[in-house]
This record gives sequence, C-alpha cells and structure tokens, in this order.
Amino acid sequence: MKILIVGGGGREHALAWRLRQSPRVTDIVVAPGNPGIATVARCENIAADNIEGLLALAKLEHPHLVIVGPEVPLVMGLADKLRAMDVPVFGPSAKAAMLEGSKGFSKDFMAKYAIPTARYRRFSTEQAAEAKAYLETFDGPPYVLKADGLAAGKGVVIAESKAEAEAEIDDMLGGKFGAASASLVIEEFMHGEEASFFALCDGETAVALAGAQDHKRVGDGDTGPNTGGMGAYSPAPILDAAMQQRVMDEIVTPTVLGMKQDGRPYRGVLFVGLMIDEKHGPRVVEYNCRFGDPECQVIMARLKDDPLPQLLACATGGLGDCKRLERFSDHAVAVVMAGAGYPGEPKKGGVIGGLAEAGQVPGVTVFHAGTARQGDDIVANGGRVLNVTATAPTLQEAVERAYAAVDLIDWPDGFCRRDIAWRALKRG
Ligand code: AMP
Ligand code: GLY
Repeated sequence: MKILIVGGGGREHALAWRLRQSPRVTDIVVAPGNPGIATVARCENIAADNIEGLLALAKLEHPHLVIVGPEVPLVMGLADKLRAMDVPVFGPSAKAAMLEGSKGFSKDFMAKYAIPTARYRRFSTEQAAEAKAYLETFDGPPYVLKADGLAAGKGVVIAESKAEAEAEIDDMLGGKFGAASASLVIEEFMHGEEASFFALCDGETAVALAGAQDHKRVGDGDTGPNTGGMGAYSPAPILDAAMQQRVMDEIVTPTVLGMKQDGRPYRGVLFVGLMIDEKHGPRVVEYNCRFGDPECQVIMARLKDDPLPQLLACATGGLGDCKRLERFSDHAVAVVMAGAGYPGEPKKGGVIGGLAEAGQVPGVTVFHAGTARQGDDIVANGGRVLNVTATAPTLQEAVERAYAAVDLIDWPDGFCRRDIAWRALKRG
C-alpha cells in the first residue's frame, strides 16, 4: 500500500517512521519532507500549502491513502479536492477544519451543542467599543483575546491588564493579523491544568487515541513567550482512563455528532486542547484539526499497534468496526531542540553533529523538524529543528534517555528546555 504524507516537520517524520513499520505499507511519499524523513520515505519537494502541486503529485502517485499533517492545507480545502478525485484522505474537509480555522465558528459550535468551554463573545472590526465594554463583565485580568482566523500560532493574547487588553483590541481589530483578526473572540480565562487529547474520527464515530501534554513556553519553569511547543510527553497523568472517558462523553462524541448533524462530517484526528480543574472538569481551550506537534511524536513513539487500519477507516468509514488502538509503550518524552532566537528569528545554517550517536541511545529516535541537507552535512533550517524522543518503562527513564541523547548532539546554536515533563514527574 502506498501512503502520501503532506508536511515536512517532526510530526510528519513521526508518522512516516511509524507507518514504515506497518507490514502493509510498501511505499511512503512525503511532500515536502525533510532530511530525517528521507531516511524512511521518498521526499518530493512540494510545499504543504501548494495545493495544485499536491493534487498533481497525487494524480501521479496514486496513493491508497493521503495523510495531511498541518492545518493550513486542510483549511485551504486539500482534503475536499483529493476526495473529489476519489483519493482516500485522513484529514477533515475545509468545512470541518473550521473547528480550528475559525475560533468564532468553534465557539458558536460549542455553544450550540453545550460542549464545555469558556464564556465568550465575538466582535467585528466596527465593534472595538463593545469589545472593551465586554472586558468589564470579567472579574479582572488576565483577559483572553483570540484572532478569529489562523495566525501561525500567534493569534491568542493573554493580557495581564485592562490597558493591555484594550490596546490589543485596537491592534487586532485594526488588522494586526490581517484578515485573521478582522473578527475577534474575547473569552473568560480558565484556570487549571492543560492537556492535549486525540481521537480518531470517520465522520460518524470517534475513538479515543491517547493523551499528551506539551510545554508551550520557551523557557524552563514555563517562562517566556509562547511557542509551537518545546517538548511533550505521553501519557498525561491527568488524562487517566476515567478522565478520558469524560472527555469522550462530554466533548469528543458530541463534537463528532454535532458536526455530522451540521453537514460537516469530521474525518481525521480531532485534537482537543483541554483545561481541566476540579470544579469544571474538562473544558475546551481550542480544537485543532490535525495531530499536535510535538504531541504526535510521543504518541507515535509509544504506539505498538499498527495504526494503518484505523487511519484508513477514518478516511473511508467503518472506524466503529475497528478495534481501539490500545497497545502502547509505557512512557514517551520528546525534547524539542530549537535554533537560538526562537520563537523570534532563529539562527539557521549551523551544522548539526552527533545525530547518529544520539540515535544509538536505547529507546531514542531523533525526529527532524527543521533541518536541511548541505552536502554531507545536516544543518539547522527552522525554529524548532529536532525532536529528541525517547520511550521507557518509566517517565523518569524516558526523560533521562532523551536528555542523554540531547547531550550527544553537537549543535552550538541549538537550545532546549531542561525540564520537560516536570509536572508529571512532580506528581510521582
Ligand atoms: P490556543 O492557540 O487557543 O491554544 O491558545 C494558546 C494558549 O493560550 C493555550 O494553550 C492556553 O495556554 C492559553 N489559553 C487560550 N485560551 C485560554 C483560556 N480561555 N483560558 C486560559 N488560557 C487560555
Ligand atoms: N503542540 C501544540 C500544537 O501542535 O498545536
């Protein structure tokens, strides 16, 4: 069976690496891929947002399944166009991807189906005064402001004072993120512990996959600016079996049924960003229409069952007849190594050594996120560059293995957080 994976980051490396182990998979093509992915698949240099190029590639390659990694091509309608060509796709239609593509849409959807989330209101460009008045309805800071559309992970602002929130309202509605912030969501700040939950969906049915937690802030102790994620681990202790069942019953299943009812059947992986506290239980911070990055890396590293039948069923139906993917290694941790300057302008071009040695540490796989090949060298070519991922029987050992591998990597421009999984380790 031939699989086409769209994307070129650590998430797609982990997917290609895992599917390479499937006995039914004969060929994997990844567009655009990266030098790490090239060790497990054939890469074709077509960007993940080049929809016409990807359609032409699908026509040429005749894949049995296309897996779309990032959100942008999904929101642009890649899955719809592939389905129109009768190509099975793991990934939602543009109408279903609006769960991630429009915060306003997802909030209205949750309100309609009574899915637990923060209280909110939406505002358009002409409504700056109303938006400022709405701030008065909260107890005080922090205030949560969200650009409606995709803003490369930067569209959420947590303002620590009313003055900052008011200035941000003017900036966002004034076009700070272009069309993405022409509409704004203001919502209640939720306290609690964040976690990422993943479920597979075929438009009719949802089946739990796994939970994980990532570290959004760039610095140790969860300090500094937000990033795409500096590290992750799975399982997440807060998402025990009982909590996973609650998330399925109160959030995921109503979401899939509601989307079906609204004529937007959801196919692919549903990533629910959760806030969990004693008083409210699990509430939705945001939906994403794809795997998390780096959460996907730890889930794929842990997964012992072959995911191919379930991924295919998401694309073609019949997920309810598949068994749940349930055989996992005990623990996995991914440490993100990023280029100096990230999440601002990262330093690129530095040669990365020691990758082979790092990959020899027991249980370790080094997924490439932002690398390029220059002659015989692997060089840094992005913000998040490597995902050093380790599995082990205990979380502590997984952390030790991951950092032992990190310490074998010779890349003077790189840095990483040294406290990945601290919260789970503290729980014991
Ligand atoms: P998002 O892009 O929606 O995931 O938001 C980015 C981050 O902002 C989340 O991971 C949370 O840490 C934080 N955040 C977003 N919305 C809220 C909220 N209503 N209450 C508390 N924190 C939030
Ligand atoms: N790591 C969070 C995300 O992929 O959105």
